Amino acid sequence: MKTYAMREVNNELYLGNIRLSELVKDHPTPLYVYDEAGIEHKISQFRTHFTSKQFFCETIYASKAFLAPYLCQMLEKAGFGIDAVSLGDLYLIKKSGFPLAKVVFHGNNKSDEELQTAIKERVGLIVVDNLNELKRLMTFAEAVDYPIKTLFRVNPGISAHTHAYIETALLSSKFGESIYDWDKMHSLAKLYQESRNVKLLGFHAHIGSQINTPSSFVKSAQTMLNFMAKFQEETKMVLNTLNLGGGFGIKYLPKDKEIKLPEMLTKIVKTVEKGVKEKGLALRTLMIEPGRSLVGDSGFTLYRCGGTKQTFGHKNYVFIDGGMADNIRPALYQAKYTVGVANRFNQPLSNQALSYDIVGKCCESGDVIAKDVVLEQVEEGDTIIVFATGAYCYSMSMNYNGLTRGEVVFIKDDQIKVVIEKESLDQLVSTCVFGG
Ligand SMILES: Cc1ncc(COP(=O)(O)O)c(C=O)c1O
Repeated sequence: MKTYAMREVNNELYLGNIRLSELVKDHPTPLYVYDEAGIEHKISQFRTHFTSKQFFCETIYASKAFLAPYLCQMLEKAGFGIDAVSLGDLYLIKKSGFPLAKVVFHGNNKSDEELQTAIKERVGLIVVDNLNELKRLMTFAEAVDYPIKTLFRVNPGISAHTHAYIETALLSSKFGESIYDWDKMHSLAKLYQESRNVKLLGFHAHIGSQINTPSSFVKSAQTMLNFMAKFQEETKMVLNTLNLGGGFGIKYLPKDKEIKLPEMLTKIVKTVEKGVKEKGLALRTLMIEPGRSLVGDSGFTLYRCGGTKQTFGHKNYVFIDGGMADNIRPALYQAKYTVGVANRFNQPLSNQALSYDIVGKCCESGDVIAKDVVLEQVEEGDTIIVFATGAYCYSMSMNYNGLTRGEVVFIKDDQIKVVIEKESLDQLVSTCVFGG
C-alpha cells in the first residue's frame, strides 16, 4: 500500500528522504501528506494514455477530491483543466493563478450568484444540470455579448457497480436529465437554438466513483455516443464535445484488485474513436474528470497514538488524535483503509500481536477509521499511518467537536512543502459573534 516514492528502511517508513516518525515531530498531527512524485506519475499516466489522433483528449481534475493552490499550479503545468462546483472552489482556483478559462463548472443546484459569477469570470465551460438551470443561465447570459459555452449533464442510466452513495447515473439519480427523456431533450434543444449566446458544445455523464474495471466506462462511452448521434439526428444540432466524467478507482486494501489505469484510459479512447467513426460524429474534444485516481493513493494521514485500551469485553482499541473529523469516509459509506505503524512498519508479527479497531477522538461510536487491524502491540506515541487518504478526506473534513482542520504537506526528495496550514483556534471561531 506504499505510495510511489515511499520506502521502508530498518522498519521505518520514509517518503523521499523524509522519515515519517521524524516528520510528525515538526508538523502537527493529524497530518495529511502527499507524495508529489506519486501525483506527477499519475499526471504522466493520464498524459500518455489518454490521447488520440482523432480528437483532443482533455483531462479535467475533479477538485472535490482535494484542492490546494500548489496542486492547481502542478495541474496548470501539466495542461490539465479543473472541475469546480462552488464559489469557494472558483475563488481558490482563481487566487492560485489558475486560468478560469480552463475550469469546468458543475453542480446540480447552482445558485444565481454561482451562475452569474461563472459568466462574469468567463469560466471555460458550464455543465448545465437541468432545464430550469438552463433557463436561468440564459436569462443571466442576456447581460453579456460573448458566447457562454456549456455542456448539458445527462444521466445514461448505467450502473457503475459501486457503493450506492457514489453511484450517480441510475435512473433515480439526482444528477442531470435522463437520456431517455426525449421531451426534455427536445425542449433543451429548442432553448439552445433560440439563445443568442448560450452554446451547447456537447454532453456530460459521470456514472459514479471508485470504478475498477473498464467495462462500465466502455458502456457509458458507447451509450453516450449512441445518444449523441440520435440527438443530432433529431435536432440537427452539431455537437463536438463529450465529457465522460471521472470515477477511476484506486486500491485501498492489499487484497483489492489491481487497477490498470493505462488500460482503462486506452480502452475508453479506442471505444470513442470507433464509435465516432461508425456514427460519423464531429467530435473534437473528449474529456474525463478524474479526482480520486489522480491524488487518492498518493496521499496518506499520520496520527499520533494517544494510547490503547482493552475493554472489559476484550475489545482492543488504538486511539488516534483525529478520526471522523479528518476522514469521514468510513462513517459515511463504510470505506475501508489499510493502517500501519510508521515507526515499526515491517516487523514480522509475533504471538503478542493484537487485533485492534483504530478509533478517533470524536464523541461518536461510529468514529472508527478501520476495524480488526492486526498489529504488533501499539504504544503511546507511535506514528499511525492510514494509507490512500489523498481523496475526499481533507476536502470532506470538518470541525466536529471543535477540532481544527489539519495541515497538508507535499513531499518530494528532501523537500517538505506546507501547502495548507493547520487551522488555528482563531480561524475556527472567526465566524462566531462574540459579546453580542
Ligand atoms: C461530475 C463529477 N466529475 C468527476 C468526479 C470525480 O470522481 P472521482 O473522484 O471518482 O474520479 C465526480 C465525483 O463525484 C463528479 O461528480
